[in-house]
Amino acid sequence: MPKQKSWAEPWKIKMVEHLRMTTKEERIEAIKEAGYNTFLLKSRDVYIDLLTDSGTNAMSDRQWSGLMMGDEAYAGSRNFYHLEKTIQDYYSYKHLIPTHQGRGAEHIFSQIMIKEGDYIPGNMYFTTTRLHQELAGGTFVDIIIDEAHDTESHHPFKGNIDLKKLQKLIDEVGADKIPYISMATTVNMAGGQPISMANLKELREFTNKYNIPIAHDMTRVAENAWLIRQREKEYENILIKDIVYEICSLTDHATMSAKKDPIVNIGGFLATNDEDVYRQAQNMVVVYEGLHTYGGMAGRDMEALAIGIVESVSDDHMRARVGQTQYLGQKLLDYGVPIIVPIGSHGVFLDAKKVPSTLRTRCTSCSDLSSRNIY
Ligand SMILES: Cc1ncc(COP(=O)(O)O)c(C=O)c1O
Repeated sequence: MPKQKSWAEPWKIKMVEHLRMTTKEERIEAIKEAGYNTFLLKSRDVYIDLLTDSGTNAMSDRQWSGLMMGDEAYAGSRNFYHLEKTIQDYYSYKHLIPTHQGRGAEHIFSQIMIKEGDYIPGNMYFTTTRLHQELAGGTFVDIIIDEAHDTESHHPFKGNIDLKKLQKLIDEVGADKIPYISMATTVNMAGGQPISMANLKELREFTNKYNIPIAHDMTRVAENAWLIRQREKEYENILIKDIVYEICSLTDHATMSAKKDPIVNIGGFLATNDEDVYRQAQNMVVVYEGLHTYGGMAGRDMEALAIGIVESVSDDHMRARVGQTQYLGQKLLDYGVPIIVPIGSHGVFLDAKKVPSTLRTRCTSCSDLSSRNIY
């Protein structure tokens, strides 16, 4: 991606949240008290919060007004039908099961799809996704390209799947032991790295031969679409919304953590084209989340999400969203700070093992200082 001096935000700020101003000494004290664990910090002690993109979005005025249009009926909320239609129109999936977060959808989907002794190949993994696969009796197998594990490789699509690794697994265990391929856009644990459309098309063709479905972790699909547009020549003039639709339509099922791409603070869903999976998920969601027309969400939150999905696939929005990450990452590189390259879409990941030891503070409660993010 070309060096970027700044990025223009396609919005005006009309509300502010007051922050407590802290001194350096207060911050050092707070960090010590938290045992050098950022997840144990109190938010009142944090001035610039770069912990995660999860649920930290500022919603738009349209989304806030959507909250006032919540239909909190126990059954058949109109916000559910609006959200369902939005998911069909923008993401191509036929059926929707709302959940409280992405992991709620992962739980239901894994329990339906996986049986003891199955294998689930994926382009690396996300913590909760993999755990739900394992709790359902499956074994995760990493089939991402080798470059994804090399923090210094500049490969433009480090989220790509290595089809040779997939073929090897099929040869070893048989296609009937593989209930689906777990494919994420973008790959969080690799540092927010995208999969290319070319690779996804190849994967689709390959899996069709064996009749293996593709389950899409679509948490950051619009960001992935933006990077496809930057890096894949034939997509340079295609709208983000059309790239997003094409990615989704190459897959069969999806789980979404709506706290990222679609700009809400809580929520998620399971989406599928498979009627049978949908019926089973409708039965399960009632037990673990709530009735099938609200699952884990309030009516107002489903409305804000429906509006957020439309806003999230705007080209101007995505230019600014990924632009700020690229800007920060480039500044750090200019200062010689070791980070994972290429700079990802949703965050800048320090390459902690390469940080000079003089700058490292050893955490007393954890021995592994490698780069990782768990939310
Ligand atoms: C790629 C990915 N998948 C799934 C999840 C889980 O979603 P949630 O935190 O909404 O449960 C996350 C959360 O960060 C994620 O980044």
